[in-house]
Amino acid sequence: MIEFQNQIFHLHAGGMSYIFGIEEGVPQMYYWGKTVEVSDLKGLMSQGGMGWSTQADTQLLEMPVYGTGDYRSPMLEIEFADGSGVTEFRYQSHRIYDGKPKLNGLPATYTEQEKEAQTLEIVLYDALKKTEAVLLYSVFENGALARSIRLKNNSSEPLKMKRILSASVDFYDDDFETLTLHGSWARERHVERGKLFHGKKSISSSRGASSHHKNPFLALVRPYTTEQQGEVYAMNLIYSGNFEAAAELSSYPLTRMQIGINPFGFAWELGAGQEFQAPEAILVYSDMGLNGMSRIYHDLYRNRLCRGKYRSAVRPVLVNNWEATYFDFTEEKLIALAKEGKEIGAELFVLDDGWFGKRNQDNCSLGDWKVNMEKIPHGLEDLAAKVTEMGLRFGLWFEPEMVNPDSDLYRAHPDWCIHTEGRPRTESRNQLVLDLSRPEVCDYIIDAVSAVLSSAKITYVKWDMNRSMTEIPRSDTAHKYMLGLYRVMETVTSRFPEVLFEGCSGGGGRFDGGMLYYMPQIWTSDDTDAYERLFIQYGTSMVYPVSAMGSHVSAVPNHQTGRITPLKSRGDVAMSGNLGYELDLSKCSPEEKEQMKAQIAFYKANRELVQFGDFYRIESPFEGNYAAWQFVSKDKQESILYAFKKMTVPNGKPKRVKMTGLDKDTYYETTYQNQRIKGDVLMNVGIILEETAQDFESFAIKMTAVPDVSAGKE
Ligand code: GLA
Repeated sequence: MIEFQNQIFHLHAGGMSYIFGIEEGVPQMYYWGKTVEVSDLKGLMSQGGMGWSTQADTQLLEMPVYGTGDYRSPMLEIEFADGSGVTEFRYQSHRIYDGKPKLNGLPATYTEQEKEAQTLEIVLYDALKKTEAVLLYSVFENGALARSIRLKNNSSEPLKMKRILSASVDFYDDDFETLTLHGSWARERHVERGKLFHGKKSISSSRGASSHHKNPFLALVRPYTTEQQGEVYAMNLIYSGNFEAAAELSSYPLTRMQIGINPFGFAWELGAGQEFQAPEAILVYSDMGLNGMSRIYHDLYRNRLCRGKYRSAVRPVLVNNWEATYFDFTEEKLIALAKEGKEIGAELFVLDDGWFGKRNQDNCSLGDWKVNMEKIPHGLEDLAAKVTEMGLRFGLWFEPEMVNPDSDLYRAHPDWCIHTEGRPRTESRNQLVLDLSRPEVCDYIIDAVSAVLSSAKITYVKWDMNRSMTEIPRSDTAHKYMLGLYRVMETVTSRFPEVLFEGCSGGGGRFDGGMLYYMPQIWTSDDTDAYERLFIQYGTSMVYPVSAMGSHVSAVPNHQTGRITPLKSRGDVAMSGNLGYELDLSKCSPEEKEQMKAQIAFYKANRELVQFGDFYRIESPFEGNYAAWQFVSKDKQESILYAFKKMTVPNGKPKRVKMTGLDKDTYYETTYQNQRIKGDVLMNVGIILEETAQDFESFAIKMTAVPDVSAGKE
């Protein structure tokens, strides 16, 4: 997968080539794209030298730095003790080996067998300042490329890192558009496609989390690229904190694409002899459109980023009491809801916010992780036992990273929250962020969460985080917080390997690869309106696998939007993720409950296909009146198409949908008018959805391969 010849490195796998060489000690980028067999592409590079520019400014640089005459954004920016910032990194050595190293203290993709990936480490050295930069590349069999950088200060003086990005790629090319995922609370990861312009186009977060607003993902796509075809170059950061991703078009025309920790608000002192490991970026090239890119991400993240028992175990159907009761519950109410959940076929009952301290609203008790005996008089152990006896698992909500000023924890440790002395402590949702850059705060969280998890039969945790950071005291706090958080999560998740952890941050405010390393599923959005979920889940699937997405059926009128939608559509959208029910079941009619029962039964029969099959986006809700996506099992024997008509159009025209990903020679028994249809027909001719005059109508078509047809054909 990695070759080295004539000072040229060729990383290739899964139809992708990434080629760069060392010229006069400096790594120069040659090519990233569809695989080529020849590595020596030097003669095909521009010789540089435009008017009013230096050579460096027109080169494709593998590790751009400040001060060399390259005026684009660097990957590294250092301020040495003498105030200087010019660096001169030169190739010193390299090493190629099977497998992939762990990244100290950070989440990262991994291998289980060494042959699954090959790694290249290149050591570059600045002799004057005795500073070492190690570029890390691991190429996986499916073509995904993990990149990061480690900086080491070998001098006897400290240096200050002002910028250390994880990946930077230069292209002699400007035929690109950008594709990013933007949003807000309850409207996460909407797809946005736009033009490059001369200058730097960037997305970032400085909120102390990857955020609802921008996801740490950037793709450059060709103007002609669609879901099914065309070239895509993508970067995704395995990190849950502040990030920046940028595409910079200079005049020549060269495009530079970068991703890493957000340099804004960041600085890090690296003492003599110290090292800094930057987070990992996953680079994916596809010439099979956006779906091609997504499938590479999905497979890698599902299998070699997620860990633990639930990486490949089917996820339970849950009932959550949040939208059913909010804070207003008693033990009897919870038991009644669990019972009704059990009756419709749910497997897990989740007790959400409000079970601890004296919390009856969102204004107190975060930090006091002791059960509220007024609301749950027999305690958690007893409640969990009662739920377990019903044949359900019991799960619990936490928000461990936060503290309310009205809490025993805050009264005991008012200095434990993120704050700047002498400045206001801005509250959001009446709460402050605990300062996880401090080891004693992390230890408190580990102990508090562990004590609750050991006290009762809890087999699921929803780990929430409900505000952004403000008044951050130092430029290294936000990253130190992430390192602290990752230590906390590593400790708690490995201490309780039987527990299924679901990440959450006001819904999908921290939906990123960093979280997936610890928690294999994430609550996708606080917006449970199925119509809005079309956009959110479609966008989320660009990078993240369906097995990562929590998705619930909730009541109508919907609590976030007031919209009334059919239960069938709500079910079909929620079944396109990890299914749950989050509504007061006692208010549902017997017919509705029967329908839910049928949904759960269908889901249970098909969830392996949904959670672990290939996912294809077919129709984008951002573009037309339809959204459609399809699940196909790895062996192409089974598939489900879900299609959704957004609004009824008077005298509407029936919609033709073409399937994808099937075996062209296989016959499928379909629930489309119970017809038996061959794969090539389903994919090229498609089927016509006969709509009725109903807004937000959904269609589900199951396809099952007919085993004996090819034999009968002879
Ligand atoms: C956040 C979560 C919700 C719910 C509430 C409880 O907003 O995203 O699902 O758990 O907190 O306060």
